[in-house]
Amino acid sequence: MNAPAEGGLLHGAERASVTADGYALSARGLAYAYGGAAPVFADVAIDIRHREIVCLLGGSGCGKSSLLRVLSRLEAQTAGDIRFLDEALTAPHPRAALVFQQASLLPWLDAAGNVGFGLDFDHQPVLSRSERAERVEHALSAVGLAGHAHRYPAQLSGGMAQRVALARALARQPQLLFADEPFSALDAITRAEMQDLLVELVHRWHTAALLVTHDIDEAILVADRILLMGGAPGRIVREWTVDIERPREAQPAAVTALRLDILNALHALRAH
Ligand SMILES: Nc1ncnc2c1ncn2[C@@H]1O[C@H](COP(=O)(O)OP(=O)(O)O)[C@@H](O)[C@H]1O
Ligand SMILES: [Mg+2]
Repeated sequence: MNAPAEGGLLHGAERASVTADGYALSARGLAYAYGGAAPVFADVAIDIRHREIVCLLGGSGCGKSSLLRVLSRLEAQTAGDIRFLDEALTAPHPRAALVFQQASLLPWLDAAGNVGFGLDFDHQPVLSRSERAERVEHALSAVGLAGHAHRYPAQLSGGMAQRVALARALARQPQLLFADEPFSALDAITRAEMQDLLVELVHRWHTAALLVTHDIDEAILVADRILLMGGAPGRIVREWTVDIERPREAQPAAVTALRLDILNALHALRAH
């Protein structure tokens, strides 16, 4: 079971209940085309269970980012339906949060200001000042930046900036975290730390996550389920449930076997 938060108290995010059945997100028959161009992807079906980490893996240009933007409703699909928390999704949802490769922090706000930014926008649930401050503090502490709330983006390393971006997402108490190659600009050591942190946070905050990556090892270390995207137009061509015990670094034989299987599937895609 998940350990309670520091001090034995469950904060709001950990307490946030989810329906036991149904999916966090469910999409059917999705297609998308830019302007009059050929479809980037077509006939995509995808289900993400509550609290599940799904990695969308595929080569560069196969349409992962486009699919993520459509699933999060930053773009409208050209065909198909998306359901989020058992309702039709027709606009970005306040309980779905996004993290991108660049932290995109506002340089004139400190870390706390960046995490809190947007929490009182119209489409967000109304929060009192103290609730807002508590959310920001809790999110910063969850990503290990409790002592850095008043640092400005220029004073943060790349890894710390991405932690702030993660905290900004968590402060929305998301039921689903969309992340598009969030660690690919970081050095290998920081990336490994952030992968562990993501898994820990998703488990502790009872959120689900859709992580887009082109990195097979990242997918294997992080995912409960891996979806391989490929083809033209792009589709989900293979799926693996990853039931390797965590920490997965301690299971090299199982990791290597899965890695080879995924590599073979990628090669088969290229051969077509
Ligand atoms: N804004 C855009 N306008 C037109 N075509 C685009 C745009 N963004 C991406 N594409 C095209 O859509 C395809 C998929 O891109 P993308 O979703 O970014 O792939 P990935 O994230 O897997 O690298 C590519 O061929 C890319 O050139
Ligand atoms: Mg991309």
